[in-house]
Amino acid sequence: MKRREFVSKVAVGGSILFVSPFYLNSCSKGGDSATDSPDTGNTDPINIDLSKSEFSDLNTVGGYVYYDKYIIIRSGESAYHVLSKFCTHQGDWVEYLHSSNQIKCNLHGSMFTIAGVVLNGPATRNLAAYNVSVSGNILTIG
Ligand code: FES
Repeated sequence: MKRREFVSKVAVGGSILFVSPFYLNSCSKGGDSATDSPDTGNTDPINIDLSKSEFSDLNTVGGYVYYDKYIIIRSGESAYHVLSKFCTHQGDWVEYLHSSNQIKCNLHGSMFTIAGVVLNGPATRNLAAYNVSVSGNILTIG
């Protein structure tokens, strides 16, 4: 391989490596992507103090809050659910409908069960669901 050819191939390869993180990031915000993947490498449990004001909506059955990549839902007196807040269709934030105990994405109308399972598209993949437990005022995800 001639030097010029080698440099040309390395330059092209370097461009691909440089572009790849952007490409992957942009895919995560659109299309039927894997943004709701439950793992980004961090498997440490997350503890949330429910007595803090930003979580006050969880004091009421039917309430929900967004925290980081999650939607945290209180569907019953002692029933909590944690799902990805990102719709698996194109990444809009989903919301909880207490009246039907379902999750809805308002952008294109996808519906999910409280466990994150697709009921109606256009989403075709389930929302990521996370383990959750509550002890006193501390809610633990993971
Ligand atoms: S982003 Fe299209 S249905 Fe949610």
